[in-house]
Amino acid sequence: MEYLTVALAKGRLATLAMDMFSDIGFDCSEMKEKSRKLIFTDEKNKMKFILVKASDIPTYVEYGAADIGIVGKDTLLEEGRNLYEMINLNFGKCRMCVCGKPEMKERMFKENNLKVASKYPAIAEHFFRDEKGQTVELIKLNGSVELAPLVGLSDVIVDIVESGKTLEENGLEVLHEICDLSAWFVVNRVSMKMHKDRIMKIVEGFKEKVIQ
Ligand code: PRP
Repeated sequence: MEYLTVALAKGRLATLAMDMFSDIGFDCSEMKEKSRKLIFTDEKNKMKFILVKASDIPTYVEYGAADIGIVGKDTLLEEGRNLYEMINLNFGKCRMCVCGKPEMKERMFKENNLKVASKYPAIAEHFFRDEKGQTVELIKLNGSVELAPLVGLSDVIVDIVESGKTLEENGLEVLHEICDLSAWFVVNRVSMKMHKDRIMKIVEGFKEKVIQ
């Protein structure tokens, strides 16, 4: 039997995904030990688990370097890759929002060339250009995006809001909600044909564990 490879996003989503794989009978014990290893194997079930930077998971899955991925909807929307989105796992829930200083709420949809900083330029552009018909200047950042409106780099940001703490502690607020987000189970298109029975068994197992 060939190995099936599962790409997990390093961090919190990986821990939750590992718990689900353990619940449906896979051996993730080695992965739960603290280490810097990136590949783990469950020999009995011929499964490989790889730890990948979240934003790279759709790439691994589209190219078939991983058959399956567990990844946030934010990354799927941003990357727009060609893969099957099989199940909404309903964990890692958060919201994609336009955020900024409170006074921007009235102004943001009226400004010409609004400056928008984001780790998600494709999502931000799609929202402002296609949904609002507004031309904006996009500024791509890689983290601590909340800083941008505080130091005058941008007027607003498009970012993930989970607890809302980062915004609150920096005097910012949600100005507009773009969409809800959560973790998804995704599959490579060719793998789905080659290993349909094995993959569907895992999908069914996950479906039973998903909390609605
Ligand atoms: C994410 C996101 C927000 C924060 C939201 O950043 O970009 O900054 O979490 O969470 P909260 O609503 O619970 O405060 P992340 O922690 O991934 O770090 P980063 O800023 O370096 O990207």
